[in-house]
Amino acid sequence: MAISIQVNEKRIKGRRSLMLYGHFIEHFHRQIYNGIYDPQNPLSDEDGLRSDILSAMRQIKVPVLRWPGGCFVSSYHWKDGVGKNRQPFFDKAWRVEDPNTFGTDEYIKMCRKIGCEPYICTNAGTGTAEEMSDWVEYCNLESEGKYAKWRIENGSPLPYGVKYWSIGNENYGFWEIGAKSADEWGRLVKESAKMMKHVDPRAELSAAALSDLDWNMNLLKNCGQFLDWISIHEYWDMMAEKNEPATYEQCMAYTDHIDHSVDEVRGMLAAMKLDKKIRIAFDEWNLRSWHHPNVHTVRQGTGKEDYITPRDKNDDNSMYNMADAVFTACFLSAMNRNCDIVGMANFAPILNTRGCIYSYPEGIVLRSTYHVFDLYVNYLGDTVVDLWTPDSVPGMHVTGKNGQETDVETLDLLATTWSDRAGTALAVVNKHPSDSAAIRLSTAFEGMNVVIYRLNGSSPDSYNDVDRTEVSVRKEELGMFRENMEISVEPHSVNVIQLVP
Ligand code: AHR
Repeated sequence: MAISIQVNEKRIKGRRSLMLYGHFIEHFHRQIYNGIYDPQNPLSDEDGLRSDILSAMRQIKVPVLRWPGGCFVSSYHWKDGVGKNRQPFFDKAWRVEDPNTFGTDEYIKMCRKIGCEPYICTNAGTGTAEEMSDWVEYCNLESEGKYAKWRIENGSPLPYGVKYWSIGNENYGFWEIGAKSADEWGRLVKESAKMMKHVDPRAELSAAALSDLDWNMNLLKNCGQFLDWISIHEYWDMMAEKNEPATYEQCMAYTDHIDHSVDEVRGMLAAMKLDKKIRIAFDEWNLRSWHHPNVHTVRQGTGKEDYITPRDKNDDNSMYNMADAVFTACFLSAMNRNCDIVGMANFAPILNTRGCIYSYPEGIVLRSTYHVFDLYVNYLGDTVVDLWTPDSVPGMHVTGKNGQETDVETLDLLATTWSDRAGTALAVVNKHPSDSAAIRLSTAFEGMNVVIYRLNGSSPDSYNDVDRTEVSVRKEELGMFRENMEISVEPHSVNVIQLVP
């Protein structure tokens, strides 16, 4: 039976920011070195940046790129990564040597080539408030003070105008170098924010929250007045724990828990009357979480070192299949629906590791998730409008990775319009592993031309690799809208349906 869809374009839920389709890149695995930055590679340009990767990034109009970490940043000293006298250092987060040849100036150059906003994450682990505000001076002051002068001396006469700054990373976590208690965090964020804003009052600041009441309350009570953003992270399939990826069905169980931390933080901001001032930056997210094979950590509470040596599946492209694409689409649709409070989200990471682009010496592979960004960025509208159905959406019973049983709706539906032209674009995700579904559009679309972009592969496990393209987008012209027109969507697929004059 087809599901009837009603769309009320006059009932605007919000205007989504393009920043919801943002990304993250870290000094980790092959993201920077042997990734985007590879001066010896014939595909690299005069700045050592891989041209093929840059152009793939431009195609999905990367709006903002968070850097340099992640956990990496918590023992990174930015001053060692600019100027002529750079020394390699030991990266304590990922336990590898970092040559320090890619630093702030190289990052800004890269952002300019991509056409995105920089978003710098500071060291709140072993770093100080002063080191953070010195970084703002280096990037944003014209010529006052030694750091702006140093930037000029390093070849950049004009300030970089970095608007987005995050104070620290996941400093609540036992895994983070220089982790903090809630009290320490409140004090550090307050002093750092004060100094950074004194250097550049236009800088927009974020700091890490997690769904722990004490931590968040303490942060918001002490620092709410200085913050523009509150940062949250989530990876649903924690591979370091089980060392096995979740199956397609298990991934569908995760789609039921996509916006739980948004709901919690939203409630807290509202209770503290900060919901009009502070927005949520979901500045690291991905279905999967793999780790660097070098990593070891101390498990909280056990007091003993527990060496985690996961197999390095980061480079195994078969791991990133239609489950990843379906989950990614559900996440992006959920953020669109929450666009009144979520102003930024950063897929973590953009390249290699579990990123949406995979690079190898001779080229790149666009993983399934890349195509979801392509669809959402290039084919959906910027205004989220009301969508409902009078029918019941078929459910499916799934068992999650930890054995929990859930019923999830098989369809995820989102309606958008454009603020600068007529038409409607729907995102329709069919999570069912084997059943197709059909939707019936209301007569409000009479006179419109219907086009569908289908992202899929022949099975839930389909993936792209150096030797295969199993997952791709197909465009189908369905002609003019007809009364009772039914549109069928394939199992395990992500679809954008455009209704345009
Ligand atoms: O991406 C790897 C790590 O995952 C990031 O460094 C950290 O922020 C998150 O826990």
